[in-house]
Amino acid sequence: MSLPKSAVWYPFTQMSEPARAPFLSIVRGRGNYLYDAEGRKYFDGVSSLWCNLHGHGVPELTRAIARQADRLAHSTLLGLTHPGAEDLAKRLTDIAPRGLTRMFYSDDGATAAEVALKMAYQFWRHRGESRRDRFISFKLGYHGDTLGAVSVGGVDLFHSTFRPLLFRGVKVDPPYCYRCPLKLSFPSCRYKCLEAVETALKKNQRRLAAFILEPKVIGAGGIIVQPRGYLSRLAKLCRAYRVPIIADEVATGFGRTGRMFACEHENVRPDFMCVAKGLTGGTVPLAATLTTDRVYRAFLGRYEEAKTFFHGHTYTGNPVGCAAALANLDLFKRRRILQHLPAKIRFFSDELAALRNLPHVGDVRQAGFMVGVELVRRRATREPYSWEEGIGRKVCARLRARGILLRPLGNVLVLMPPLSSTLAELRRLVQEIKGIIPLVC
Ligand SMILES: Cc1ncc(COP(=O)(O)O)c(C=O)c1O
Repeated sequence: MSLPKSAVWYPFTQMSEPARAPFLSIVRGRGNYLYDAEGRKYFDGVSSLWCNLHGHGVPELTRAIARQADRLAHSTLLGLTHPGAEDLAKRLTDIAPRGLTRMFYSDDGATAAEVALKMAYQFWRHRGESRRDRFISFKLGYHGDTLGAVSVGGVDLFHSTFRPLLFRGVKVDPPYCYRCPLKLSFPSCRYKCLEAVETALKKNQRRLAAFILEPKVIGAGGIIVQPRGYLSRLAKLCRAYRVPIIADEVATGFGRTGRMFACEHENVRPDFMCVAKGLTGGTVPLAATLTTDRVYRAFLGRYEEAKTFFHGHTYTGNPVGCAAALANLDLFKRRRILQHLPAKIRFFSDELAALRNLPHVGDVRQAGFMVGVELVRRRATREPYSWEEGIGRKVCARLRARGILLRPLGNVLVLMPPLSSTLAELRRLVQEIKGIIPLVC
């Protein structure tokens, strides 16, 4: 096999593939579109990996980034500070679910998750409950690709290779209603699946440092939308068994599900919350882990006690990232994004109905601007396509030729357009998919 010419080793990529068909090179972004070197235009149907909110080339964001880069591109938060870090922490803790009063910066979703895991673990040590060294999480959960995040993840295809390197934890079934392991349906099931979760919480309660979960939508595991009422019941169980909740809002945060944070749908107040992706409107990397005064206080002490949280990354709380995030929050306010979303989401939902009766569409799951369309070989039996068939990839390849960029998760087509998408763009996205599925499946 001839080696690819490019020196770049691409993420999540079998590198023999770009050698056969070189990657599309994106050179420009404007509005909800990306442009290749030949000037061809593509609708950004997955918001450049789930993070773009207001489109590309938004002047308010670009100006904030440029101004900050000119004033101070980077210093450090290890022993120094800068105004943006302080301002942003204040603004975010003000709008976060109640009780989240402290914020620790990092760079990506995975680092935000690592911080939460380490913080939760160390918190219990300071509280004299050192046996709490395990995490409970969902099978099919995804929290990033560093080893801690992989340990609490459950997407076998990505994670099983690394199993010998991972720390042990407790895994429970997510509420994947379309493929309910109990063969029940919602709402007549009355949340029966939570009984197994409760059993796991009860059995391990003295060993558990936290429950890490993606609230409302389990993303990379297949856009699995939790049924209404599930999250609040789960949170209640965690409280009953004294297990802190880490809400990983990396994908769901910043309006993606129709509310600023997905926890708000069910008034859940987590002990930790991870944010990244949309934090800067999808412009530059920045992440944060928010937590409560209760957790924060446990780390306070004299210098010699070494209760410090010994964790930090070089670019933690980078000033340019903070400036972008502040400008992003301003845009939410000025453009009244959250107020405009419900009507758009209803429209999107009505449009998606056009996919539901296609012979090879098994399930259409939607939470706001997060949509998963699960393709199946046979609707009646819900028989999946095998992974090797790459059915999602085939559909996406055809869509690309029609000027739409999507990236599937196995057999699930993921639709995650920018929040700034117009009604006409949402309609076209769905109509194009409707036209392509019968040609491929
Ligand atoms: C819920 C969730 N957590 C964490 C991550 C990891 O984020 P990053 O790729 O920025 O490390 C992702 C990425 O898709 C995610 O969806």
